[in-house]
Amino acid sequence: MTKAFLRAENIVSGYGKLHVINGANIHIDEREMVTVIGPNGSGKSTLIKTLIGLVKIFDGRVTIRDEERGWLDVQTRKRQMKPDEIIREGIPLGYVPQLNNVFPSLTIEENLKMGLFVKKWDSYYHERSEQIFESFPILRERINQRASLLSGGERQMLALARALMPAPKLLILDEPTAALAPNLAEEMLQLIVSLKNTAGISILLVEQRAKRSLELSDRGYVLVTGMIAAKGPAKELLSEDKIRKLYLGDRAKKEKEVG
Ligand SMILES: Nc1ncnc2c1ncn2[C@@H]1O[C@H](COP(=O)(O)OP(=O)(O)O)[C@@H](O)[C@H]1O
Ligand SMILES: [Mg+2]
Repeated sequence: MTKAFLRAENIVSGYGKLHVINGANIHIDEREMVTVIGPNGSGKSTLIKTLIGLVKIFDGRVTIRDEERGWLDVQTRKRQMKPDEIIREGIPLGYVPQLNNVFPSLTIEENLKMGLFVKKWDSYYHERSEQIFESFPILRERINQRASLLSGGERQMLALARALMPAPKLLILDEPTAALAPNLAEEMLQLIVSLKNTAGISILLVEQRAKRSLELSDRGYVLVTGMIAAKGPAKELLSEDKIRKLYLGDRAKKEKEVG
């Protein structure tokens, strides 16, 4: 049986006094790929940012399981840990934000080093970057170039590579294919699946390409106005008529078929 790696219970969170997430429960098991879908503005980015301490939590808690220490509170109203703190606690996680996810004026190498947060990990950088260049040879070739010179697809690769620097057990990705042409988007999704399959990394993915990402995922959640409207094995979500019509872009097709 698989074990949960991250658990978020009854999450209420938002900005200032604004509640965006209104009581959400989600979990990610070890070596599992989970996709969160939902309309624009439903709170997908807010939810995943809450998990890693980038958005204020009003209520509920987020725990991460550590082999030795058991369940660790990472987000509660009393204490919210930032991503770098969580990593320094020895729980590596990777996060790729939705937008502006590379530092354009820094070189590829400097961008990758940012993924380790702390300078004293400089020696670790060489070990990690060598491993990462095996999956991203283009980054090695252009290591001293500024990130601003990379294409959209290459920037997205760099953002992913940076998130992989601390050798994460959990990788959280916010619309990693948003700016990519369809063939590059498929390549990116395949790369993400391969990280799960070969490196055993758990994946939490927010995707606009909802149907495709569910096809590749183990489980999914549908987030609507800050609440989980549906959840389950990805196959079940994909086969539910209501979900297909409302969230998987099946409506136009259906109407065409009917009339
Ligand atoms: N920094 C912020 N300050 C205030 N409101 C925000 C902020 N970021 C997002 N919101 C609001 O939170 C809601 C959910 O946004 P978001 O989590 O980005 O949705 P999604 O990722 O599903 O498109 C929206 O109404 C948005 O306007
Ligand atoms: Mg978003």
